[in-house]
Amino acid sequence: MAILVTGGAGYIGSVTVELLRAKGESVVVLDDLARGHREALDADIPFYQGKAGDRELVARITKEHQIESCIHFAALTFVGESVEKPAMYFENNVEQGMALFGTLERAGVRRVVLSSTAAVYGDPERVPIVEQSRQWPTNPYGWSKLILERLLDSYDTAYGMKFVALRYFNAAGATEHHGEHHDPELHLIPNVLAAAAGDKPGISVFGDKYPTPDGTAIRDYVHVADLADAHIRALDHLRGGGASDYLNLGTGQGYSVLEVIETARKVTGRAIPILKEAPRPGDPARLVADGARAKTVLGWAPTASDLPTIIRSAWEWRLRHRRGYEPRSK
Ligand SMILES: NC(=O)c1ccc[n+]([C@@H]2O[C@H](COP(=O)([O-])OP(=O)(O)OC[C@H]3O[C@@H](n4cnc5c(N)ncnc54)[C@H](O)[C@@H]3O)[C@@H](O)[C@H]2O)c1
Repeated sequence: MAILVTGGAGYIGSVTVELLRAKGESVVVLDDLARGHREALDADIPFYQGKAGDRELVARITKEHQIESCIHFAALTFVGESVEKPAMYFENNVEQGMALFGTLERAGVRRVVLSSTAAVYGDPERVPIVEQSRQWPTNPYGWSKLILERLLDSYDTAYGMKFVALRYFNAAGATEHHGEHHDPELHLIPNVLAAAAGDKPGISVFGDKYPTPDGTAIRDYVHVADLADAHIRALDHLRGGGASDYLNLGTGQGYSVLEVIETARKVTGRAIPILKEAPRPGDPARLVADGARAKTVLGWAPTASDLPTIIRSAWEWRLRHRRGYEPRSK
């Protein structure tokens, strides 16, 4: 029996695959490599390059590898791109997700862990955000995830398909073997570290007049290894007959953009110039999770998600992988 990990060649997927294998789990990865890296997967991991929504391929994988559950990371993830190209996002994230779940259901695979996101809440009415908070995304990316959550809820009612939708806040950090390499890179911490390394002239700070103590936006950063651990716990929860659920993955501790930059200066010992920019439309001032439910349901408690640990791990990975993942043949 094996676990199908879609999007396993991506950032959070590759770390989860690493931790699953360290626990002795059998894993099969399906990724179209549109945004992932073959080099992020050990050569001995069964790997299929293809679309999560390829019904024929998924049916074959589930049979050949006796798939018992699925962790579904595969998605396009850039908010701005989703606003410009909604059709691409709904096709890739929703249509393909729907094809995947339908194929799994027909094959008798009735356990799914879904990568969801804090973007399902849109602009929150109150912070910290609890799972019952209003869900009204402000972009097609967020909607694509919310639609998949609703779809799984209906499949649970009708077909007994059990799921845990994990709504991550900001993933960050690295393990010894796997780190963050997006192209383009839009996340704050890797960009701050690129500036620290001298690969960028500085770090853009979008807006400094938010109603926060230092005027810059506050986000809830979670170490990617803590996220991966939550997926393993969610699988165990479902294997143990646990009910379907929606869980925030955040620490409840927010850090401002300036706090991230200051911590990165301390960790790296490098100067990081700040480039002041106008605020981006639709960027909320403060996004922080109430993570109590994940603790109650999964016993999940982040252990590596304090800011210095996150930044140190990402910096060490960056020092070893100056240009991110590179093809093995080089
Ligand atoms: N990084 C974050 O901070 C964050 C926050 C909230 C939610 N998420 C969600 O977590 C998941 C993983 O995020 P990430 O940062 O690791 O992204 P990523 O881009 O590094 O990984 C996604 C992977 O999925 C693959 N993929 C995309 N569409 C596919 C398809 N249709 N079929 C097969 N493979 C496909 C890509 O090639 C890539 O390897 C995504 O679903 C994302 O929406 C991420």
